Amino acid sequence: MTKKLSIVFLFLLSACDGGSGEKAPNPLHLPPQGFMGDSIKGAALYDQNCLACHGKRGVGTNQGPALVHDIYNSRHHAELAFHLAVNNGVRAHHWNFGDMEPIPHLSPEDVEHIVRYVREIQRESGIQ
Ligand code: HEC
Repeated sequence: MTKKLSIVFLFLLSACDGGSGEKAPNPLHLPPQGFMGDSIKGAALYDQNCLACHGKRGVGTNQGPALVHDIYNSRHHAELAFHLAVNNGVRAHHWNFGDMEPIPHLSPEDVEHIVRYVREIQRESGIQ
């Protein structure tokens, strides 16, 4: 009985992550604890690496969703979601823009700068 249950459970787990044959995710690197991002550096990094899809100041394009959107507020998509997105890419799940590829040349500190910038432009639009 217990064995049957665990098989069902394993099946559910693999169904959630898209099944077998997937690449293992890249190891996640986070900035040192207490590291504070800088939104000015973040703005420049955002423009170079994210703007093409997420749009100028996060308004979105036909390649990717607006990040200045309530769905990406800090409760629904915490800092970790940004690190995971850059590290592993994102399988399309909220929208129909397709997948986001990983962006391996960005350091965890770079991502933290970008998050700081995104939170700033979200706040300016009244997203807390
Ligand atoms: C080539 C296009 C493209 C680029 C470049 C890109 N993204 Fe994305 N990103 C997407 C798409 C498409 C999605 C939406 C996937 C979905 O949920 O349907 C997405 C989703 C996200 C999400 C939401 C993840 C989640 O958990 O739902 C975050 C956060 C994100 N991107 C951050 C970034 C950051 C930061 C950069 C720049 C460093 C960046 N993206 C660059 C296309 C892109």
